[in-house]
Amino acid sequence: MSVNISRDDVTIFPLSAKHNRASFNCTNHDLNDFLKNDALENQEQMVSRTYVCFYEKQLVGFYTLTTDIIEVKHIEQTHRWDEYKHKKYPAIKLARLSVDSRFERKGIGRLLLFAAVGIALDVSNYVGCRYITVDAKQEAIEFYEKHGFIIVEKTRTKNEPTLYLNIPTTVERMQPAESLDMLD
Ligand SMILES: CC(C)(COP(=O)(O)OP(=O)(O)OC[C@H]1O[C@@H](n2cnc3c(N)ncnc32)[C@H](O)[C@@H]1OP(=O)(O)O)[C@@H](O)C(=O)NCCC(=O)NCCS
Repeated sequence: MSVNISRDDVTIFPLSAKHNRASFNCTNHDLNDFLKNDALENQEQMVSRTYVCFYEKQLVGFYTLTTDIIEVKHIEQTHRWDEYKHKKYPAIKLARLSVDSRFERKGIGRLLLFAAVGIALDVSNYVGCRYITVDAKQEAIEFYEKHGFIIVEKTRTKNEPTLYLNIPTTVERMQPAESLDMLD
C-alpha cells in the first residue's frame, strides 16, 4: 500500500522562469506542453497564473487558475446558497491540474486541488467569486466528483465536461482544523 505525501512534505510556488520544468512528465501530452511552453507566457500576459509543486526537489505537479463565469441554468439548485438573483455568477477556473505520472495516487492531486480552493477562497474575500469551475478530462471526472464537484449534466458527453464547486458550501462542510491545514 503506498503512503500519501503530506502537505508538509511539498512546497508550492507561483511559477517563475527559475523553475526548471524540463523533467515534468504526466500522462497527458497537452498538459506537459502547456507547462513547458505556454504557462509562463500566459502568466506574463495576465491570462492565467500557474503554481508549481515540489517534493524532494522534484517538480511533481502544477495547477493553473484563471477567471470564469457560470450560468445559473447550469447549476443544480439544492442548497440555501442556491437562491439566485443573477443569471450568471463569477468563478475561478481551474484551467489545468496535473501530477507527474511517477507521483500519481500519492495524494498530490488532492493537495493541489485544496491549494487551488484556498486561493479561490482568498480571492472571494476581495473580489466577488462564488464558484470554482473545471473542464475536466473524461478520465479525471471521478477525481473531481470525489472532492465535491458537481457535473453540468448538459456537458457530460462533451470531450471535457464542466464541473463546479460552490465555495461557500465547501467551506461550511469543512472542519475548521482541516480547512486551516489544507488551505494554506
Ligand atoms: C487526476 C490527477 C490530477 C489526480 O492526482 P493524484 O495525485 O493521482 O490523485 P490523489 O492521489 O490526490 O487522489 C486523491 C483521491 O482521488 C482518487 N483519484 C485520483 N485520480 C483519480 C481518477 N482519475 N479517477 C478517480 N479517482 C481518482 C484517489 O484514488 C484518491 O482517493 P481516496 O481519497 O479515496 O484514496 C492525476 O492523476 C493527473 O494529473 N492525471 C493526468 C492529467 C489529468 O487528467 N489532469 C486532470 C485535468 S482535468
